[in-house]
Amino acid sequence: MLIILNNKCNFTLNQFKQYSQELTTIKTQHELVLCPTNIYLSITPKSEIVLGAQDISMYHEGSKTGEVAAKQLKSMNVEYVIVGHSERRLYLNENDKQITEKLRRSLEQDIIPILCVGETIGDYQQVVSKQLEILKNIEHFENVIIAYEPVWAIGSGKTPTIKQINEVISFIKKIYPQNKVIYGGSINEFNISNLKSNLIDGYLLGGLSLNSERLKAFLENLE
Ligand code: 13P
Repeated sequence: MLIILNNKCNFTLNQFKQYSQELTTIKTQHELVLCPTNIYLSITPKSEIVLGAQDISMYHEGSKTGEVAAKQLKSMNVEYVIVGHSERRLYLNENDKQITEKLRRSLEQDIIPILCVGETIGDYQQVVSKQLEILKNIEHFENVIIAYEPVWAIGSGKTPTIKQINEVISFIKKIYPQNKVIYGGSINEFNISNLKSNLIDGYLLGGLSLNSERLKAFLENLE
């Protein structure tokens, strides 16, 4: 299974050094992908943990002040990138056009994009299918990992039931049978026991990713 650790905008330098050192002691059969704040990518200790980024520029490298281009991430051995997280859609007004370009830039550099989708409230079908429509404009869209993250579940301590998650993932897989689909939103070391299913290809962890001991407990309960 794919376990994506989205550190979001957390940790000072010293905190990150300690945390990332602790992560190197984790033994697991699952593929762990650490997505630190970009400035820490170069100081992440070498280990079995794969590197991911939390965002990517929609532009190619060059005169784009403040941006981090796909080619630069690739040169840092970044293998995955989160694209279209609801926090970026909300706080940075990221739109489908930008998200489409970001998916393209990632795939051009063989960085696997993790495209986040999910409803804010109410019915998921219309929102999720609309958010996924951009895949129709992407060559090799089958290489995109789809992360179902209902916005109401992010950081709220609330999760859908496993039945509801299975329903949404089945809905997604019916339209995009070749794509991997993972779940994110308030996953922790306790609720994971009730949120496992053969349909889920992995998990996207926010708050839980920040604590190595809790993460170890999660991985034990997942196995
Ligand atoms: P939480 O696990 O903190 O709810 O965050 C989920 C998330 O947004 C991961 O990208």
